Amino acid sequence: MNIVRAKDYKDMSKKAASVISSQVIMKPNCVLGLATGSTPIGTYEKLVEWYNGGNLDFSKVVSVNLDEYKGLTRENDQSYYYFMNDHLFSKINIKKENTHLPDGTEPDSDKACSDYDKVIEAAGGIDLQLLGLGHNGHIGFNEPADEFIPNTHCVDLTSSTIEANQRFFASYDDVPKQAYTMGIRTIMLAKKVLVVVSGEDKAAIVRDAFFGPITPEVQASVLQLHPDVTLVADDAALSLI
Ligand code: GLP
Repeated sequence: MNIVRAKDYKDMSKKAASVISSQVIMKPNCVLGLATGSTPIGTYEKLVEWYNGGNLDFSKVVSVNLDEYKGLTRENDQSYYYFMNDHLFSKINIKKENTHLPDGTEPDSDKACSDYDKVIEAAGGIDLQLLGLGHNGHIGFNEPADEFIPNTHCVDLTSSTIEANQRFFASYDDVPKQAYTMGIRTIMLAKKVLVVVSGEDKAAIVRDAFFGPITPEVQASVLQLHPDVTLVADDAALSLI
């Protein structure tokens, strides 16, 4: 694993955006696995800045996102579809038809998940997967469990995740309790993985995920087995290493 130390969130964002932009420059028709959450927002801002500067072309890029809340429409400003459009897709020249997320409005979980696996397969797999890290070690919405689940599946969110995401909703009751998430096999099959982490509150989970035992109780720990992982983290997130 490559650890890239950044001094703060801004520096982490710039360094992570550099990894993504080099992927796009080296392979203009690459498949980017993208993530939501607050951590990648600065990374997307940098990519938009460089795109506006005329140095990046996303016209041939295909994207597949990690996850989506079950039950939220695309118009809901808390859906990950809305987030991706708001922070990235509407600001760059990626083609709308080349951007993919699980369909949160599909009530049939089996169908939503198998449809999404077909989309990822048709794209030819993922060249670079961007990941944030949940406080409990989740990646995408792969929550702590007794096993690693390989493919896209419907997850019951843990109360700690619902609480962590409550800040974006009016109340705890408004936070969706389920989500569709890409599975661990799909993430592990990505050619490269880029993990972004910032802040002292993530220091313990960075230590446990990357230097602790490999266990489904800390889903991100499986990344220790991936041959090409780059962790871009700031000093605060690396403070226990
Ligand atoms: C969310 C997302 C994850 C994200 C994580 C951390 O629930 N499903 O993909 O990485 O939690 O979020 P944040 O970056 O806001 O800490």
